[in-house]
Amino acid sequence: MDILIGLQWGDEGKGKFIDLIGRDYDIIARFNGGANAGHSIYYQDEKITLKLLPSGIFSPHIKNIIGTGVVIDPLSLKTEIEEIAQIIPEQDLLNRILISQKAHLVLPTHRYWDIYMEESALYRTIGTTKNGIAPSYSDKIKRQNLRVEDIYSDNFKDDVYQILNRQYNELQHLGQEMPALEELYHSFMQGCIFLKKIQITDTEIFLNKALRNGQKVLAEGAQATLLDIDHGSYPYVTSSNTLASAACVSLGVSPKLVDKIYGVTKAYCTRVGHGIFPTEITGQTANDLREKGGEFGSNTKRPRRIGWLDLPALKYAIMLNGVTHLVLTKADILNTITEIPVCTHYETKGEKIALALPACKDQEIKPVWKYLSGWNTVLTNVSQAKNLPEALATFITFLEAELEVPIKYLSTGPQREELINLAI
Ligand code: GDP
Ligand code: IMO
Ligand code: MG
Repeated sequence: MDILIGLQWGDEGKGKFIDLIGRDYDIIARFNGGANAGHSIYYQDEKITLKLLPSGIFSPHIKNIIGTGVVIDPLSLKTEIEEIAQIIPEQDLLNRILISQKAHLVLPTHRYWDIYMEESALYRTIGTTKNGIAPSYSDKIKRQNLRVEDIYSDNFKDDVYQILNRQYNELQHLGQEMPALEELYHSFMQGCIFLKKIQITDTEIFLNKALRNGQKVLAEGAQATLLDIDHGSYPYVTSSNTLASAACVSLGVSPKLVDKIYGVTKAYCTRVGHGIFPTEITGQTANDLREKGGEFGSNTKRPRRIGWLDLPALKYAIMLNGVTHLVLTKADILNTITEIPVCTHYETKGEKIALALPACKDQEIKPVWKYLSGWNTVLTNVSQAKNLPEALATFITFLEAELEVPIKYLSTGPQREELINLAI
C-alpha cells in the first residue's frame, strides 16, 4: 500500500495529483476526516471538488473506499454522489464505492454544535469548516456515536431520534437557531436510506485480501500534517490524525505493508482558519499570490492566508510521515517573483532552529530567509525535467538538499496532465 498525505496546512493539491497517478492503482482509500476536505480535480475542463469521495472516482477501473477513520455525513455524501453521477452517468458509480461499516456518522446536530462552538464566546474559535467534524469525532471518542453499520439495526430510528433530540434540546437551550427537529431527523434518514444503496462492508478485510492478491492500493489523506490532532499546531487543528501512520489504523492495514509515502507540498504556504503561521505575509504580494493561485477554500470559499515556504515545518512534517517521494505543486504561481524567499530556520530567543513544529502562538518566532532566484518563465509548455528553467531546477535542487528527500513530481498547473515526472 502506498500513502499520500499533505505536508502543510491542507490544500497542497493532493486531489489533482491523485487524479493522475491514481490511474496506476486498483483501489483508492480515504482514511481520515470527512466533508471538511475539498480535493479539486478537473474532469473534461470542469473543476470538481470532492469532499468525501476518494479522488480516483473518475477512473472507471478504480474501487473507491471510505475507511473506518472517516466521519460520514450521509446527506453530504448523497449530494456529492448525485452530482458526480450527473457528470459520468455512464459509469457504474455506486458499485465502485465501498464504505467501512465501522465509519462514524455525522448527525445534523453535530453540524449545529460545530457552528455554535465557532460562534459562541463560551468556546475557542478555531475557524473550522462547520461540517460537524469535531462534534462527531468527540462523540466517537466518548463512545456515544452512531456508526454506518447501525443503519441496519432495528433500533436505528429510535437511536437517531434519541441522540438528535438530546443534542437538539441542549443546543436550543443555548440559543442556537436550527430548523425544526423533525425536519433534521427526516432529511438525515433520507441520507441513511441512500447509504444503503452503497456497499457497506468490512473494508479492512477487502483491502487486505486485495493486497494479498497483488492489487495496488493508494491511501488518500485529507487535511494535512500540521492540522493533525496530535502532532499539528493544536488547538488550531482538525479532529483526526492526518499522518501517514493513521492510514494503517483507519484502513486496518499493517504498517509492514506500506511501500511509498508521497508527501505533497506547495512551493509556498497557505492556511485557512486560525493558528500560528510563521512565514505569513500580508499586503499586495499576498493578495497577488492569492488571486493568481486561486487561494480560496475549495470547501468553504474562505480566502486562504498566504506565506512563503517554511522549511523547518516541512522537515518536521517529512520526519513525522517518513516521506519517500516529494511532490511539489504550484511552482507556476511563483513565476513572476524575482527573488523567492524561503524560510530556512526560525530564530527564537537568539537560538536558530532548523526543524520544528510552529505550535505555540505566543512563541516569538522570527523566520530566517534565504532568497532564491525566480524563474520568470511560464511553465505551460514545459513537460519534461530537462526543459525546466535553470532557476527552477536550482530551486528544486536546493530543496532536495535541505529536505533530504527527492522531489519526484512537479505540478505546474491545475489540470490533470500538468505534472512533470522529474525522475525521467
Ligand atoms: P487538496 O485539498 O490538497 O486536494 O487541494 P485543493 O484542491 O483544495 O487546492 C489546490 C488548488 O490548487 C486547487 O484549486 C487545484 O486545482 C489547484 N492546483 C493544484 N495543483 C496546482 C498547480 O500545480 N498549479 C496551479 N496553478 N494550481 C494547482
Ligand atoms: P483538504 O483535505 C485546509 C482546517 C479548517 C480549520 C481546521 C479545523 O482539502 O486539504 P474542521 O472543519 O476540520 O474542524 O476545521 O482545519 N481544515 C482544512 N484546511 N484543507 C482542508 O482539507 C481542511 N480541512 C480542515 O480550516 O482551520
Ligand atoms: Mg482542499
